Amino acid sequence: MLHAHILGTGGYLPVRRVSNEDLSKIVDTSDEWITSRTGIKARHIAAQDEQTSDLAVKAAQAALADAGIDAADIDLIIVATSTPDMTFPATACIVQNKLGIAGCPAFDVQAVCAGFMYALATANAYIKSKMATKALVIGAETFSRLLDWSDRRTCVLFGDGAGAVILSASEQEGGILHTELRADGAYSHILQTPGKIVSGDIQDSPYLHMDGQAVYKFAVKALARIAQEVMDKSGLLPTDIDWIIPHQANLRIIESTARHLNVPMDKVIVTLAEQGNTSAASIPLALDQGIKSGRIQRGQTLLLEGIGGGFAWGAVTIKY
Ligand code: UT7
Repeated sequence: MLHAHILGTGGYLPVRRVSNEDLSKIVDTSDEWITSRTGIKARHIAAQDEQTSDLAVKAAQAALADAGIDAADIDLIIVATSTPDMTFPATACIVQNKLGIAGCPAFDVQAVCAGFMYALATANAYIKSKMATKALVIGAETFSRLLDWSDRRTCVLFGDGAGAVILSASEQEGGILHTELRADGAYSHILQTPGKIVSGDIQDSPYLHMDGQAVYKFAVKALARIAQEVMDKSGLLPTDIDWIIPHQANLRIIESTARHLNVPMDKVIVTLAEQGNTSAASIPLALDQGIKSGRIQRGQTLLLEGIGGGFAWGAVTIKY
């Protein structure tokens, strides 16, 4: 039986860093409010000429270097994004071309902040069914472009960035242990960007809208449940988990999930203070930072979990 092992990871954050102080000069907010409600201190914002695919390519190149393989070795590219370069073609095809390769399947997955969970589960299924041997899985976003920068309820929460993972097929036990995905479209109204282009005009709002409290309540319950389910189906106890790598939306949601699972916070990778919520990029960015900082070690057991618009959510266990 084939298993999907993590061969390398990479991450990229745009150069421009915007602090809570900076934001307090453009909307009626404060460092105190943002920090106490979310844990976020700063976020990175893409330059005007930087596209989602540019961030994705930088993360992919870092992951390829980390894995010690060439772009030509990749036989599957999946990009999780809700902020593609354009309506079509898929950002994954643009990334493929910018990496200087051609031929392998390349497509986007749109599951908002759960996008990387969906992309990872899809790549895992490709590897297990022998449809791919080396998969490049990327979460990349320029969420800053969906934000109404006069709306303090949303513009303080998000940032831009990209994270990438190279998965490799191997007979060796370990790698991705189990994946669980869920969706419930009945909740699409509490977090959405409804705008669309119709006959050359934008119809509905092109900005992100969120009922923060409704999302918060849904996220806390759904994440606790799915994290428990993925552990049960992997045959893991809380004491078996070395690291939780959660979606980075709100420190209070992250703490609530860890508490529910009985896993102490010193076993949770938290990156949101300096990155904000980078949607589909947040989990691979946190994974990369955990590995590069030396905290996540080979052989350890990881639990990844994320939730976002759709509603869509998921969790994955990995023997790294
Ligand atoms: O990745 C996608 C998933 N998204 C999430 O997980 C987000 C989940 N939700 C949350 O994280 C929280 O609900 C928020 C951080 C978005 C908001 O925190 P909250 O404690 O739920 O605040 P609230 O929306 O109930 O607002 C409380 C007050 C309001 O003022 P009044 O009506 O009480 O006078 C808001 O107008 O805080 C006000 N407020 C702000 N004040 C200063 C809202 N945003 C701001 C702000 N600065 N940026």
